[in-house]
Amino acid sequence: MSTTTIAANPKPRLPGPAIPAWTQWITNLLPWRVNLDSLGFMLKGARQFGNFYALWVGDTPIYVVSDPQLVREILVERAAEFHKADLVKHAVGSFAGNGLFTNEGDFWRRQRKLAQPAFHHGRIEAYGVTMVQQTQELIAAWQAGERRDIATEMTKLTLGIVNKTLFNVDVRAQADQIGELMTVLLIGANDRINSYNPIWNRFTQQNQRKEAAARQELFTMIDGIIADHRQHTEDTGDLLAMLLAARDEDGNPMSEQQLRDEIITLFIAGHETTANALAWAFYLVAQHPAVEARLMAELAPFDGKPLGVRDLAALPYSEQVIKEAMRLYPPAEGVTRQAIHDIELAGYPIAKGHTIAISTYVMHRDAKFYPDPDRFDPERFSAENEAKLPRYAYLPFGAGPRVCIGNSFAMMEARLILMTVLQQYQLLLAPGQMVRAEQVFTLRPKGGLKMTLQKREKLHGQ
Ligand code: HEM
Repeated sequence: MSTTTIAANPKPRLPGPAIPAWTQWITNLLPWRVNLDSLGFMLKGARQFGNFYALWVGDTPIYVVSDPQLVREILVERAAEFHKADLVKHAVGSFAGNGLFTNEGDFWRRQRKLAQPAFHHGRIEAYGVTMVQQTQELIAAWQAGERRDIATEMTKLTLGIVNKTLFNVDVRAQADQIGELMTVLLIGANDRINSYNPIWNRFTQQNQRKEAAARQELFTMIDGIIADHRQHTEDTGDLLAMLLAARDEDGNPMSEQQLRDEIITLFIAGHETTANALAWAFYLVAQHPAVEARLMAELAPFDGKPLGVRDLAALPYSEQVIKEAMRLYPPAEGVTRQAIHDIELAGYPIAKGHTIAISTYVMHRDAKFYPDPDRFDPERFSAENEAKLPRYAYLPFGAGPRVCIGNSFAMMEARLILMTVLQQYQLLLAPGQMVRAEQVFTLRPKGGLKMTLQKREKLHGQ
């Protein structure tokens, strides 16, 4: 009888696609890992098996979760029973080392506490001036009617902003070079997610060599930033100065290695994701004239004047637009964990060390939470509608103790950039372009996002 099955079998096997280990790289895993249609593959899995299923690779499961209640359990209520997944630590560890993103336990707690003041509300308000200033400087170089890759422009911009605000350095002159390094590093991280597959590994050897060179170049750059800072005798008050001044209970400063790991982590985590959120927002706004008209109506009272953080209160629709763009295209597609000991989740046993992949992308496109889920509709995030969403069904920044430390920074930055650009330019999708999302660690527009820059007529009174 079906009601006795679970009792008779204390270790039920969570249903899901079963993939013989030897075929993994040519069958189901190929589209997922190698990115032919990894996102479609995840959506299909959830449609077939529900919000909690296992991808069985031979006997090894990867648990795929897109259920808000389970998200709450894993990331919040039982957070102490999980660590970041080895898969991800292995993927980014070669450049992000033991920084905030990958660190664990008491050491992570201490480092997070050290960094936290740089992200306090009062502090990030001051960053708003840099955010708007650097956006204006970027667009001052744009020519009316020209075509640019907006994904690249946004990456340069957010890279400049995170470096100026957190480390008080201007890296904009090296932005193209850094952009190339970042791409090599992220492709390398993606490759390592596949690295249990020896055949795939052989294909990626060339990139491994490129990655080693890119990593070295980035380390040299970061060491230069740290050395420069050490020469300042005055307190610059930025995050790097705070990390340099920090002492442990024995009075020792942070090790050089740890310092570099923290800086690289913030350097990378602090720009790539926000740039993607913005690229997707411009892409979506360009296709929805009514949304753009509403944003312009919000901007009208400012009459072209430079925006500041305090103006954001009068620009609530800009927040709805950024949130909805991140619903459809969450820059961090998912969050991974592994249990630190054998546990049970929703009645199923999860063995210590097995990977749990929370798919933000799948959850954000679930019609149960978001009716007509593929439609871009910022109204979903009006105060009234947002309050009706189940808690943890919206997860762009993760949740619980490991929630993104830069979430308020990123929201403020994305809104200020979006609105400052729109004040001066209408961005039109270059004709004939097929825009697709690709998952290269973060969710980016594949091949960039070419847009034509149409200068707005000067507003009345300017
Ligand atoms: C739209 C922009 C951003 C998105 C979508 C995003 C997303 C995320 C997510 C999902 C996590 C949690 C990962 C997990 O639990 O495994 C995370 C962590 C983190 N993010 Fe962000 N992030 C963004 C912007 C930023 C910015 C601007 C910064 C810094 C300036 C930043 C720094 C970090 C750091 C250091 C962590 C690790 C925190 C910890 O574990 O203590 N992020 N981010």
